[in-house]
Amino acid sequence: MFNLILFGPPGSGKGTQSDKLVEEYGLVHLSTGNLLRREIADQTDLGIEAKKYIDKGQLVPDEVVIGMVDAYFDQHKGAKGFLFDGYPRTVAQAAALDELLEKKGTTIRLVLFLQVDEEELIRRLVHRGKTSGRSDDTDEKVQRRRQEVYREETLPVADYYSKAGKVVNIQGMGSVEDIFQSLCSAIQEKM
Ligand code: AP5
Ligand code: MG
Repeated sequence: MFNLILFGPPGSGKGTQSDKLVEEYGLVHLSTGNLLRREIADQTDLGIEAKKYIDKGQLVPDEVVIGMVDAYFDQHKGAKGFLFDGYPRTVAQAAALDELLEKKGTTIRLVLFLQVDEEELIRRLVHRGKTSGRSDDTDEKVQRRRQEVYREETLPVADYYSKAGKVVNIQGMGSVEDIFQSLCSAIQEKM
């Protein structure tokens, strides 16, 4: 299996690039944000609970997300590999993912870290908010809160994987196509 993490702050282009990467490499896309939005749309208990956090720009509790990821993983037996988008987002989630992958006899090969300035992130998300229908996109205050939460709770995940020598920084500003090419080069080197 070839498992990789696309890492970066809210608005850095993880979703945009994931769609292209899963097509190019035949990986299964695991986006916890998309899974949570699906639960909200279906009005499940999990979705109703998660929405309270998402609408404030906060993280959904670890145990909820970890359980959801474990279940998704088991629903995709025989996958060539997974592309994790927006997961793990805390060091506890990273440890849980390591444990899950180890149980399955596999590991994370690569963490691609998209580098984008904060003002550009806010600009992109405010722009996306005009059409996305995402309840966490419309309010700039919520956007800023998401960036803060990222710095406090998610950035330590990059250190966690740096220590294991798995992180490659990728310039995340520029055209979608140029960024995609940089990501592909980094993947090619590891495959
Ligand atoms: P999630 O859905 O994961 O959102 P996010 O990480 O906050 O990131 P976004 O989806 O906002 O941005 P992105 O990096 O995917 O960028 P995109 O490609 O869309 O999570 C949402 C919420 O769910 C969280 O806040 C949290 O509450 C909860 N959650 C999710 N996972 C969780 C977890 N593991 N644990 C706990 N809670 C969790 O691009 C952004 C915009 O920029 C788009 O409009 C795009 O068209 C545009 N764009 C993309 N590339 C470029 C470019 N090169 N140049 C110009 N514009 C570009
Ligand atoms: Mg996304």
